[in-house]
Amino acid sequence: MAALMLLPRGGPALGTLLRPLCSWADGLLHNMAQPGTWDRFYTQQDTAGTPSHFNWFFNYMAISGLLLPTLRGCGPPEPNPSPTRVLDVGCGTSDLGLGLYRDSPHPVHISCVDVSPVAIRSLHRLLQEVPPPRHPLSQLHLHVADATDLEGGGFGDGTFHLVLDKGTCDSLLRCPQGPGQAGRLVAECLRVLRPGGSLLQFSDEDPDARVPFLEQAGGPGVTVQEVGHIDGMCYYVYTLGRP
Ligand SMILES: C[S@@+](CC[C@H](N)C(=O)[O-])C[C@H]1O[C@@H](n2cnc3c(N)ncnc32)[C@H](O)[C@@H]1O
Repeated sequence: MAALMLLPRGGPALGTLLRPLCSWADGLLHNMAQPGTWDRFYTQQDTAGTPSHFNWFFNYMAISGLLLPTLRGCGPPEPNPSPTRVLDVGCGTSDLGLGLYRDSPHPVHISCVDVSPVAIRSLHRLLQEVPPPRHPLSQLHLHVADATDLEGGGFGDGTFHLVLDKGTCDSLLRCPQGPGQAGRLVAECLRVLRPGGSLLQFSDEDPDARVPFLEQAGGPGVTVQEVGHIDGMCYYVYTLGRP
């Protein structure tokens, strides 16, 4: 995977994003493991009445050059027409899942999951504006579910070829009560992966801290790649495979 230099329009760093948005940004930063926090956050985003995407770190366009080939590489081999199954955990109102659904030249079934019904409602409205997918058999499904208990949400073992996490594990790890939940999140993401599938975590956390955490939560074989820099902050993609 080639390292990308993220363009500023990909989105500024978390603190920069939050500062002008809401007076209770500090509260958000310390309560990211609480579902009510996210409902309030996405309600605040939606007050203008017109739904718009909110992306942590960077948007779909900034990483589509990395994601689309990854998607192709982990799906069923040609000429198998069955879809590549993708799960986006803690999707929020990010354009990640919608972008992959729209652009993939091969059939994809994308499930976007978030604990916040407010986020899922906004994403559902945004979905109405997405042009038809490039492949007619592609599908996109939105679910309100707890990603630390995907089994409770009806997601069985070995369902997905690719699981994406952009900022969700980060947000759990940043709260005092979060690390246990972050470990459960990783375990659940790996459980729903097919053998040979991959979990990709996009994060601003340094490899010195994230790799040991992931190895403890998910096992050995974690790889890390720089994705790019925004405002001097380095962003990474961590990959875990299911043997
Ligand atoms: C830092 S935001 C990232 C949002 C999105 N992935 C993006 O890139 O813009 C974290 C997201 O995780 C969601 N979240 C937090 N805890 C969760 C959980 N236990 N299960 C599912 N989603 C969760 C929040 O509602 C929020 O949308």
